[in-house]
Amino acid sequence: MAKVLSVRDLARHYDVSRGFLKPKATVKALNGITFELEEGKTLAIVGESGSGKSTLARQLTLIEEPSAGKVFLGGVEVNHKDKAQIKSLRSKVQMVFQNPYGSLNPRRKIGDQLSEPLVINTKLSAAERKQKVDEMMKIVGLRPEHYYRYPHMFSGGQRQRIAIARAMILNPEIVIADEPTSALDVSIQAQVLNLFMDLQDKLKTAYVFISHNLAVVEHVADDVLVMYLGKAVELSEKSKLYEKPLHPYTQALLSATPSIRPEEKRFKTIKIKGELPSPINPPPGCSFHKRCPHAVERCSKEEPLLREVDGRQVACHLAEQFV
Ligand SMILES: Nc1ncnc2c1ncn2[C@@H]1O[C@H](COP(=O)(O)OP(=O)(O)O)[C@@H](O)[C@H]1O
Ligand SMILES: [Mg+2]
Repeated sequence: MAKVLSVRDLARHYDVSRGFLKPKATVKALNGITFELEEGKTLAIVGESGSGKSTLARQLTLIEEPSAGKVFLGGVEVNHKDKAQIKSLRSKVQMVFQNPYGSLNPRRKIGDQLSEPLVINTKLSAAERKQKVDEMMKIVGLRPEHYYRYPHMFSGGQRQRIAIARAMILNPEIVIADEPTSALDVSIQAQVLNLFMDLQDKLKTAYVFISHNLAVVEHVADDVLVMYLGKAVELSEKSKLYEKPLHPYTQALLSATPSIRPEEKRFKTIKIKGELPSPINPPPGCSFHKRCPHAVERCSKEEPLLREVDGRQVACHLAEQFV
């Protein structure tokens, strides 16, 4: 299968001021991420708030230039200096955000906002654009008369449908969805997740689906990448990860996830001690060791690298012990 997206050792650091006359500090928001995404597949990125998920999304949608590492779209290395290349690649990668209200213009009719990408990127006539927008609105479950309405006239779930329609109207190869259902009521979340799945079936779009919630991801993912403090701690096919998480951080995240099937309590609850450390001063060794119930001395000294254990990638010195 064709790889639509690959990233290699991707990093993004931010210099931040710590106050007058104090030396600048460096926030290592993203610290060496490598993965590949195949056509029509979904890679879920999971981790608690502050782990670097949105920073990763900004590098993938070419909004920012990474501090180090490489992004390849359809096998072509992205060169941020080449403006023409960036422009053409941008239509291949679209983004859906947590808050659709922020990405819609409150003063323009929905139909006009959905036509806009077609005006900019295609040579379709006005009539052809209208037809395409009507078709897309129907696919995402909006009615024809919605064309003439404004964003505030819709519910949160409907607005997210509009944002999804706009992201998909140019038939992009890749959609990066950053917590797309986190702001929605639980009853609406499932509908929007189903919409993502239906659209993927129809259009063969590949998704990078970002969420802090492993229960949400279980619906949509083919593969799951678990992030902690800007690094990958586990990268696995979905079923293996949910059956037997190998990294203690994945174990803790899963045990804290209310199961979609509450009758089967899969793991005993593991409480993660303390808070996420600052990415300015990450702990030495394994950056999770201070919160890990299994940590041994080695974990505070030697950084575990991602390595293959039980058919997936894990960054834990003790991974074999959990197989
Ligand atoms: N532009 C920025 N300048 C400084 N620090 C940033 C910037 N963007 C993100 N960060 C920091 O990087 C870390 C990761 O943030 P983010 O990518 O938003 O995580 P997530 O989306 O997983 O919650 C956080 O500590 C955040 O404060
Ligand atoms: Mg985020």
